[in-house]
Amino acid sequence: MLVLGIESTCDETACAIVRDGNEILSNIISSQIDLHSTYGGVVPELACRRHIDVIIPVIDEAVKKAGIELKDIDLIAVAHGPGLIGALLIGLNAAKALALALKKPFVGINHVEAHLYAVLMSHCQVTFPCIGVVVSGGHTALLQIKEIGHYSLIGHTVDDAAGEAFDKVAKLMNLPYPGGPEIERLALNGNAKRFAIKAGKIKTNPFDFSFSGTKTAVLYTVRDLISKAAFSEQDKCDLAASFQAAVLQDIVNKSLLAAQEYGCETIIVGGGVSNNRYLRELFKDLAPKHQIFWPPTGLTMDNAAMIAGLGYHYYLKRGQGDAYDLEALTRMPFLS
Ligand code: KG4
Ligand code: ZN
Repeated sequence: MLVLGIESTCDETACAIVRDGNEILSNIISSQIDLHSTYGGVVPELACRRHIDVIIPVIDEAVKKAGIELKDIDLIAVAHGPGLIGALLIGLNAAKALALALKKPFVGINHVEAHLYAVLMSHCQVTFPCIGVVVSGGHTALLQIKEIGHYSLIGHTVDDAAGEAFDKVAKLMNLPYPGGPEIERLALNGNAKRFAIKAGKIKTNPFDFSFSGTKTAVLYTVRDLISKAAFSEQDKCDLAASFQAAVLQDIVNKSLLAAQEYGCETIIVGGGVSNNRYLRELFKDLAPKHQIFWPPTGLTMDNAAMIAGLGYHYYLKRGQGDAYDLEALTRMPFLS
């Protein structure tokens, strides 16, 4: 089955052609980083306008690169949430228009769920139930995955998502957007023990995350250093390393606690922050006996291949597509 996937939840316009859930024939991503980097974050109105400009060329390119024609498509899968409302509407309406014109079914996909499905596209042998860890720019969550499409939420962030915290800390250190790779780069030369920066603890649920206080601690440290007229390159590196270690150690600790509590040896990690090498090293060091799986190269950040892949499973399970009144959702529950 040939599935055309569309993803436009935030600042990437993407289209991919995937056969039978995991054979990627093309995976086109038009990034808007150039557009937003000077603002230190995504400007929704600018994002929407760019999506409109590039969505048709991106779809055309994906079809061409896959060596197929539009009429060969069996199903259209589209991320209809969670994300920026205007951005979602562009991808969703493009998908509906294609479905209508080609007389093919379409399915709406939760893009956060697709970040975890991306890991399964690496052809790894994942044993269910397993623990799923979503660490993206908009979401941070721990789940127990019983099978594809069947999840229970164990914990989530009560304030900032992990990637969001990286982006905000980068901004207050005058680093460009997206902040994650910048912080990781500085942290390579930094001393993570120099500043006492900690992740938050949530009394009501030991599996929930809180990074807003972590970010504020960085802000106060920056102010303190600047007031002493000394915010050297080394200070920046040490602060980046201290912040990165606080956030990522917290994620690893809670993931391992969840694995223990739910009796799972396998952990899959998806979303943009899964690019981070320090995170991968931490899991390796702290969980040598667990099986930890990551998305294949090119599928860590927002992409449409994971949407097409997951769409294939949903369509097979339900045996029919969604109705044309399917809505774009800025928030979407992540439960079975
Ligand atoms: O999954 P994603 O593409 O978008 C959302 O669905 O939100 O993730 C983007 C996020 C950004 O916040 C970015 O700073 C973060 O992933 N990120 C990283 C790294 N690469 C990207 N965070 C930490 N370390 C990295 N190497
Ligand atoms: Zn995403």
